[in-house]
Amino acid sequence: MDEKPVRTKLQSIGQGSVLRFFAELDPAGQKRLMRQIDALDLDHIAHLVDSQVKQKPALDLPKEINPVKAYPHKPGAEHRELYQQAEQRGLELLRQGKVGAFLVAGGQGTRLGYDGPKGEYPVTPIQNKPLFQVFAEQLAAWSREVGRVIPWYIMTSDINDGPTRAFFHKHGHFGYDPAAIFIFEQGMMPAFSLDGQMLLAEKSSLALSPDGHGGSLRALARGGALADMRRRGIEHLSYFQVDNPLVHCIDPLFLGLHDLTGSEMSSKTIPKADALEKVGNFVIADGVLQVIEYSDLPESLAKQTNADGSLRFNAGSIAIHALKVSFIERLNEGGRLQLPWHRAEKKVPFVDGDGRLVKPDKPNAIKLEQFVFDAILLAKSPMVYTTDRAEEFSPVKNAQGNDSPLTSRQDQIRRARRWLETGGTKVDEGAIVEISPLFALNAGQLRDRSLPKEIKAGESVYLE
Ligand code: UD1
Repeated sequence: MDEKPVRTKLQSIGQGSVLRFFAELDPAGQKRLMRQIDALDLDHIAHLVDSQVKQKPALDLPKEINPVKAYPHKPGAEHRELYQQAEQRGLELLRQGKVGAFLVAGGQGTRLGYDGPKGEYPVTPIQNKPLFQVFAEQLAAWSREVGRVIPWYIMTSDINDGPTRAFFHKHGHFGYDPAAIFIFEQGMMPAFSLDGQMLLAEKSSLALSPDGHGGSLRALARGGALADMRRRGIEHLSYFQVDNPLVHCIDPLFLGLHDLTGSEMSSKTIPKADALEKVGNFVIADGVLQVIEYSDLPESLAKQTNADGSLRFNAGSIAIHALKVSFIERLNEGGRLQLPWHRAEKKVPFVDGDGRLVKPDKPNAIKLEQFVFDAILLAKSPMVYTTDRAEEFSPVKNAQGNDSPLTSRQDQIRRARRWLETGGTKVDEGAIVEISPLFALNAGQLRDRSLPKEIKAGESVYLE
């Protein structure tokens, strides 16, 4: 790539200073910096600097915020027939190869004290399987169930792409067909100084970070995954995050409801643990279904209750979605993903004008990210379905306390125990049980397996 036109372009948008050390860089350093700049949409960056970085965009809180009406977990009389049809429809879509699984795994395990891709983090109670393996085995079990391999798209980031590929390779892709795994990187965004200059992390590198899970919808297009889906005839994606070992990566009922209701983007919700739980909230704002982050929902609203004392805004987001491939294509039309950017002030180390590395002790930079749930606003007939927390949500986010490896491990054991009890096994308090997805994917399947009569306190039983 030629330096001159790049320099001219950067200067025209007021960002020429990122090349200030260019002449002193070795060829590898020059190439690296050029490659990073080339990956950016510079015209859009110029626009974002003016509209989002130099000034804080006014937060337009909707005038009217109302609770959402979600499909219930278990159908009442009015939904029974629909749910039966939906489950059949979901299975049919899977058998026809019309569903792909989509894991967003751009994040690191840093908050857990693990210096590597979060998906490598060991989570299961007995086997200590890493998150990636939990998902791989579920998808393998579903593939066996429906008689064809479910293509699996995995989004990584610049920070963890190499290690993630190496991890899958080292573990023989956990038995999954490597030809059905499509790993691609998400985009990166530079951090900006408060006055709108792109920051350098080194003389030869911008201060880049992943562009948010919303960026996954652009990366699917740019990384060739959408084209791959078209080739394979995939019409829907089952989207999940890397941090939740209880997730049902594939759920025929949910996929079938999504398809039968004509929804372009569907979501699972759970009742919140408490008013201020740190999850997004599904709401109808000014007539439109959307997610408002916990940090943006006014506390007075979050705490509102109904006459019976239950929370009025009680639809928490667990970041599980189904998306139509044609919808993702539409969002990328015109070459630019139609999602808003979210601004956050952060502490970002940077190289100053004299070439010295500065480690700030207070927020000195703006980072911009896109969120996948903002696509719901643009989707036709978006649908929300209620699932059961104990069945499907216990993420590992924090090293200690809530949503930690310990609480998730306990929840995994509890779920396994519940499934076993449904199957007629007596499980004493204090027994440790783990069920491989390859043994059973849900309580219904487990019932059909040959099961122990009793598992005693102090015993550790792994069913595979
Ligand atoms: C997120 C949601 C929240 C939801 C909760 C459920 C946001 C802003 N909030 O919170 O509404 O209730 O999950 O668990 O998302 N990721 C990437 N690339 C990125 C950023 C994130 O791949 O650039 C992936 C991470 O690997 C992870 C997931 O997205 O799998 C969630 O990101 P994280 O930043 O941990 O979101 P939370 O704050 O946990």
